[in-house]
Amino acid sequence: MTVLKGMYTKKLLSDITQELTTLQSAGKYKTERLLASAQGPEVTIGDKKVLMFASNNYLGLCNHPEIVAAAKGALDQYGYGLSSVRFICGTQELHRQLEQRIAKFLGADDAILYSTCFMANLGFFASITNESFGAEVWQDAIYSDELNHASMIDAFKLIKKGTVEKRVYPHNDIAALEVMLEADKDKGFRNKFIVTDGVFSMEGYTAKLPELVALARQYEAVLFVDDAHAVGVLGATGAGTPEFLGIHGQIDVLSGTLGKALGGAVGGYIAAKQEIIDLLRQKSRTYMFSNSIPPSVVVASLAAFDLLERNPELLEKSRTNTTYFREKVKALGFTILDGNHPVAPVMLGEAHVAQQMSKKLLEHGLYVVGLWFPVVPEGEARLRFQVSAAHTIEQIDRAVEILGRVGKEMGVIS
Ligand SMILES: Cc1ncc(COP(=O)(O)O)c(C=O)c1O
Repeated sequence: MTVLKGMYTKKLLSDITQELTTLQSAGKYKTERLLASAQGPEVTIGDKKVLMFASNNYLGLCNHPEIVAAAKGALDQYGYGLSSVRFICGTQELHRQLEQRIAKFLGADDAILYSTCFMANLGFFASITNESFGAEVWQDAIYSDELNHASMIDAFKLIKKGTVEKRVYPHNDIAALEVMLEADKDKGFRNKFIVTDGVFSMEGYTAKLPELVALARQYEAVLFVDDAHAVGVLGATGAGTPEFLGIHGQIDVLSGTLGKALGGAVGGYIAAKQEIIDLLRQKSRTYMFSNSIPPSVVVASLAAFDLLERNPELLEKSRTNTTYFREKVKALGFTILDGNHPVAPVMLGEAHVAQQMSKKLLEHGLYVVGLWFPVVPEGEARLRFQVSAAHTIEQIDRAVEILGRVGKEMGVIS
């Protein structure tokens, strides 16, 4: 027994070592930088302060004094954790308050919290499409944008074999999606789901939601939008892509995160019609069999909604900072993808340029993430800048100056 176990371990370890070596030689090995400070517009790495332009801290709430105070207060009043899932003894009044707050903010009947948005997406599809609703056989259809986030792609893998036809439509290509829906019109699918990110985080582009709503109504499909990168960022009140595009309250199912603009800790949700939320509470395994969100995070998330409501200028600051950054970078001669979102990708083309440049920028005190194939299409390597409402103009100017200096040194701009 012992010998066999040892041999098995040796084989596995040798396979893993080979895979890690392959990743390294293909330039795909990810190195995690160790922050020695809180998340913020500047962070400390080792003993060096660097400008942070790589986080989803869009409103600067990660280390906001009001959010931190709310979390501390909750620790004193409600304790650290609940040691339970929601339906056993893990639901505090607070959890329901936050769910109702999210639903109201997004214009939905109700919401349900998950430990992350990843879990919310897994939990939604695995329960709604896997539910027989009394039938012995059934067939649903999913139409998914080709650039959808990994959590949706993985969600589809949890679907029972043979119960869903999955179609992937070219990115934001409404005409191609319509051709698919038309071709499937008379196939008698039980339910059809059009699935998209609200904002695509590699580009900062928004999905064409008004067109998708129209198609969903025309072809009687459910529209599912993961708005993780837009809630607390886009729209007059920060309610996300639907509000930004003038269709607030018209999306059938929204998923999102508490782990980006709204404090940046952890937590996800689905917001939808009451019947859907009620079913998820009964059947969604990533909800039912996984611990409830700690009270400190719930209270701090409620505080994030309060703060956003009381300080709409935060959204304005995010917008003016984003526009300022985008214009300055363009003026230097860089190609930057157009848009209104604080995700501002500076296009470089070749992977090795993005790799080298992100490394050099960090050496010069600017932390920005480089993305290359297979994360983005081949030949479209980029630096993904993410602007925060917490950045000062001086910090943005400094970042642009470093970018310009390194860009010139490397011959990317003249
Ligand atoms: C579109 C989208 N959905 C879901 C997630 C995952 O969110 P969470 O960190 O809450 O699991 C992300 C995070 O990168 C995302 O960009």
